[in-house]
Amino acid sequence: MRLAVLASGNGSNFEAIVQSIEHGKIDAEIVLLFSDHRDAYVLERGKKHDVFTQSFELKEFENKASYEKALLELLQSQQVDLVILAGYMRIIGKDLLQAYPNRIINIHPALLPDFPGLHGIRDAFEARVEETGVTVHYVDDGVDTGPIIAQSAVKLDPADTLETLEEKIHAIEHQLYPAVIAKIVKDHQR
Ligand code: GAR
Repeated sequence: MRLAVLASGNGSNFEAIVQSIEHGKIDAEIVLLFSDHRDAYVLERGKKHDVFTQSFELKEFENKASYEKALLELLQSQQVDLVILAGYMRIIGKDLLQAYPNRIINIHPALLPDFPGLHGIRDAFEARVEETGVTVHYVDDGVDTGPIIAQSAVKLDPADTLETLEEKIHAIEHQLYPAVIAKIVKDHQR
């Protein structure tokens, strides 16, 4: 399977996925790493792993539709089979959704449908829930909505600070996302 990873920032999830591929745990190739921020750290990670990286920013285009058109053309030029959102902080537009039905997945740092949006970890922490976690789901036109593929929960310890919770959530993400991708790839090969 030919994978594209879309990421806006740090890219620790990208790192976990690319390492899983390098260790033979995912039988697929990342043919594109795209960032909508030209200075995102994830692009450094991509270069270190010899992944084809590209980036451009929404503000360089006349409107969102032309930005998405350029992104779609990029994905098509790389013959991408599966689009993996890994900290890509934008809503996917309808042209992209139509071009990749059930072929765009996202990871979110909370147990959806609870705490969607940009601050899933912080929102759950401040709500003092007993447990929170991580969700991987297919993407639709909403914010962190779409059919859930897998979830993994973690109990909040009374001693947890926002920082310790963030560490726990990221550690879960780095296990769960590669495992889900490995399964999707395997199912595709059948
Ligand atoms: C991850 O925690 C991911 O779940 C979250 O952004 C972070 C990116 O980290 N995504 C969302 O909140 C989507 N709504 P990373 O750049 O280190 O992979």
